[in-house]
Amino acid sequence: MATMTARERLGARRHPPQPGRTGRRDAWWVEPVVTIVILGGFILYSLWAVLQGSNYVAEPYLSPFYSPLLRPDWWPYSPAILIMWAPLGFRLTCYYYRKAYYRAFFWDPPACAVGEARRGDYGGEARFPYVLQNLHRFTLFAAAVVLLFLWYDTIHAFFFPNGFGVGLGTLVLLANVVLLTGYTLSCHSFRHLIGGGTDCFTCSAAARMRYGVWRWASALNGRHAFWAWTSLVSVAVADLYVRLVASGAIRDVRLF
Ligand code: FES
Repeated sequence: MATMTARERLGARRHPPQPGRTGRRDAWWVEPVVTIVILGGFILYSLWAVLQGSNYVAEPYLSPFYSPLLRPDWWPYSPAILIMWAPLGFRLTCYYYRKAYYRAFFWDPPACAVGEARRGDYGGEARFPYVLQNLHRFTLFAAAVVLLFLWYDTIHAFFFPNGFGVGLGTLVLLANVVLLTGYTLSCHSFRHLIGGGTDCFTCSAAARMRYGVWRWASALNGRHAFWAWTSLVSVAVADLYVRLVASGAIRDVRLF
């Protein structure tokens, strides 16, 4: 699979790539453009936010990019760098995002039945660096641990220095963690973890329960793209809100 046969090499020479060439009449280019704008914007913003190393706490709020907050004495840089590998690795290797960024950024191809940017050396995800995409099933566990900390941070966001309450920041962090939970539980690897590797869903009470959870995970999985995009935006919005409050640019609205 990884190397081309002589016949394939000959075919590649006879049919050079024709980027963007298609007989399609619909606006196939909208999806790649939207992906470039939103995903590219998020990558730039998150890189900037992670490298800041400041304005990530506005009690009782903590920016999701910095959770769990690790500040060991031996680390002089932004604490977010220590934990970013988990959510970043999870998103980068996500099956849905792969499709989105292969199309938008690599034009490989940009859409169904549209000419790709290059051809002839397709090796699937069996060669370096694409073989690293197979780590997704493991990054799921790391992301799940981070998610637990984000839930802890969200509960903490109800407890202000002067007691229990709800601020606009509380709701922003709550919405973010709900969307991130939807994204994590709708993951293809999670669905496989729940329902894969079994021949019988009715053989025991445990198997029937597993089947029920699998159906629930499958329903979430059907909207994985929705969870992927909404949670991407919510993470950036939550960080921005905490950052603006922490820097004094805005005041948190205390609802009660
Ligand atoms: S497939 Fe998208 S998070 Fe697992």
